[in-house]
Amino acid sequence: MSEQAVQIRTSGKVLQSPCGSIIHGLEDVLIKNTSISDIDGEKGILWYRGYRIEDLAKYSTYEEVSYLILYGKLPNKKELAEFAERLKTHRDLHPATAEVVRSLAKVHPMFAIEAAVAAEGAFDEDSLKLAEALRVGRYKAEEKELAYRVAEKLVAKMPTIVAYHYRFSRGLEIVKPRRDLSHAANFLYMMFGKEPDPLAAKGIDLYLILHADHEVPASTFTAHVVASTLSDMYSAVAAAVGALKGPLHGGANEMAVRNYLEIGHPSKAKEPVEAATKPGGPKLMGVGHRVYKAYDPRAKIFKEFSRDYVSKFGDPKNLFAVASAIEQEILSHPYFQQRKLYPNVDFWSGIAFHYMGVPYEYFTPIFAVSRVVGWVAHILEYWENNRIFRPRACYIGPHDLQYILIEQR
Ligand code: CMC
Repeated sequence: MSEQAVQIRTSGKVLQSPCGSIIHGLEDVLIKNTSISDIDGEKGILWYRGYRIEDLAKYSTYEEVSYLILYGKLPNKKELAEFAERLKTHRDLHPATAEVVRSLAKVHPMFAIEAAVAAEGAFDEDSLKLAEALRVGRYKAEEKELAYRVAEKLVAKMPTIVAYHYRFSRGLEIVKPRRDLSHAANFLYMMFGKEPDPLAAKGIDLYLILHADHEVPASTFTAHVVASTLSDMYSAVAAAVGALKGPLHGGANEMAVRNYLEIGHPSKAKEPVEAATKPGGPKLMGVGHRVYKAYDPRAKIFKEFSRDYVSKFGDPKNLFAVASAIEQEILSHPYFQQRKLYPNVDFWSGIAFHYMGVPYEYFTPIFAVSRVVGWVAHILEYWENNRIFRPRACYIGPHDLQYILIEQR
């Protein structure tokens, strides 16, 4: 290959390579048909199974939305009650998984979640049976039933993993789940050991609804890649957790709140916004989106909730005030207007969490508590027509180098 051929030019999302065009970051590349969620990035609309996110946020619950995402239709009362009951039944962790979480109590919870999900999979008989069937190419009604059961277990266990980590990290006794509480309220109860304020429980429920699925971002794509090898569902979800951990994906709400605290007062909002517009400057966390080129509809909804929350409990650290001032700067700034950069869901979501007493490092874990249903629904959808992911790369290094013995180097 000539010297000239290895020059790589960058032009936005397409990189020119000696083998042809590379779609950098797979932007706009389609990987499958889906009927789970849809985004109109230009208009700022999100649908789950055809239902607008605004309606689901207003009328639904995380349990109902999970059923919708998994089974493709809104449940009737009986179906919802049975589904919620099954989730409650599956909340407990295998003792070995609890030990994994305990042994990782002092590290960032996302490491512990990743490990705990993988560990739980090693002990789930249903999942092991399913993996064995998939290995020999059997995926019929019986296996599908197993797959849905495993999917429900993952949804049910994720809050327990996160709450256990919180308790262990603080040297506290774990709090057993309460069957009379909703998924969201029980999660807060298992974390803090007391029944949550109804507005806090509503906020968590709303957050879980808003994050339940979002087509195929990096974490969901990761889940597909792992599941496409017919590895087990827990391994696919553990890998997705690893992808979600990154600050460009799930980690942004934590960074956004840290920024607001550092800025401290709305009068100081201009400076960080200007800094973000300079070449090589720090990006504003919670701003911009690969798909939305309009205001993120989830952000609009959570902004309203955050306003309600600070109206009730106050804004002693100016988080809502600073975020609002930054939002104003962004919306009127040519840099952000030209690039169609708007606040995304992470811009607002950390504010109420912070005031609820949720430590920063648990913001992304709560994202995982929600998104797990999207991950498993996409895996189930992909397994209906599975093909292993195997893209190509353009090799630009040398060939046929002469091996030199180590003594002669
Ligand atoms: N602050 C300042 N400039 C930005 C920002 C930002 N937050 N986001 C994008 N830009 C600029 C970027 O520098 C580039 O400018 P130029 O054309 O001059 O080079 C232009 O906008 C296009 O950005 P990009 O990085 O090519 O866009 P992308 O689609 O690759 O990235 C993103 C999308 C979300 C990774 C990016 O906007 C970002 O890093 N935002 C901050 C992190 C964040 O909030 N992440 C949460 C995403 S939403 C949650 C979810 O759905 O997972």
